[in-house]
Amino acid sequence: MPNTYDILILPGDGIGPEVVGETVRVIEWFNTNTDITFNLEEDLIGGCAYDAHGVPVTDEVVDKALKADAALLGAIDGPKWESVPLELSPPKGLLRLRKDMGLFANLRPAMMFDPLLDASSLRPEFVQGLDIMIVRELIGGLYYGEPRGIDDLPDGQQKGYNTLVYTTSEIERVARVAFELARKRDNRVTSVDKANALDVMRLWREVVTRIQQDEFPDVQLEHMYVDNCCMQLVRTPKQFDVILTENLFGDITSDAASMLTGSIGMLPSAALGAKDAAGKALGLYEPVHGSAPDIMGQGIANPIATILSFVMMLRYSFDLQKEAELIETAINNALNKGLRTADIMQTGMTKTSTAEMGDAIIAELTKLAQ
Ligand code: IPM
Ligand code: MG
Repeated sequence: MPNTYDILILPGDGIGPEVVGETVRVIEWFNTNTDITFNLEEDLIGGCAYDAHGVPVTDEVVDKALKADAALLGAIDGPKWESVPLELSPPKGLLRLRKDMGLFANLRPAMMFDPLLDASSLRPEFVQGLDIMIVRELIGGLYYGEPRGIDDLPDGQQKGYNTLVYTTSEIERVARVAFELARKRDNRVTSVDKANALDVMRLWREVVTRIQQDEFPDVQLEHMYVDNCCMQLVRTPKQFDVILTENLFGDITSDAASMLTGSIGMLPSAALGAKDAAGKALGLYEPVHGSAPDIMGQGIANPIATILSFVMMLRYSFDLQKEAELIETAINNALNKGLRTADIMQTGMTKTSTAEMGDAIIAELTKLAQ
């Protein structure tokens, strides 16, 4: 069993460095207290990379990400880079990294933490035990489709356009990820599309249906239009097990789903590529939340989404299930003690800073390891 892993750390912008900083402390706890060694190398992505190199991600960083065993990212972007041309803007660094790493499957779990039941935007009975896994296609669709751009028209107007395009194989591979995940959960997939209005989504529905019939007849499949899905998410969210959807729909539905759980500050994600012959896939792990420039530098951001992203790395990239559970238990224990960062603060609880939450989780880890 190899017990040394190389992790590329990309803190990024805004609160990214703060939440990644606490996660690095958790990672280093394993270096000190177990026989596992995580070798960490840190680099730039997003606005900070643009400031240093004039591009939101360098070839060198992409190369490092391809060579590392996994990568952990904080968040990117902020008002400082608002007037940077779109092609060089911070999000484009992240989009390039996802594409060059071939990370077509984005796993975004939305699950309820019992101590936070009252922080949800819905009444407790609607969200208690909520456990949804959104599988978002990540390197196709409108984000990458050609043609795209802003053109000048002869009449003095401009024309802006993007293309929503998917090929059969792009749909097949992400559908397989969703069906395989469903088998380990409640065995149900809801494929979310807009087949009533868009040709490409008609193809999406056909391909997903065929993959289910040919390869996953044991998994239950239903289809849902994306507008209805958004409505159902706030109406009866517990009806869902795995949601499979295209890139932009996944971006939107995952933000909506995240709020059901009380705070977007709690939710991790994993972006995975194709498995190689040895069964290994590239993986990029990041919190679902953004760089939150409004609270950056104040030390009040919630580090749990990023720490849980590391937990997903342990599970999906390293198959370290016991270690993953250990961190989850430590987080639950800290929450059960009433510790809360500002985003999940409620009356009667103890308000903690980013670092205090990190301290508490590390203290719980140490207790659990004794
Ligand atoms: C996300 C973000 C990104 C996306 C942005 C920053 C490009 O919103 O990861 O959900 O749209 O994919
Ligand atoms: Mg988003």
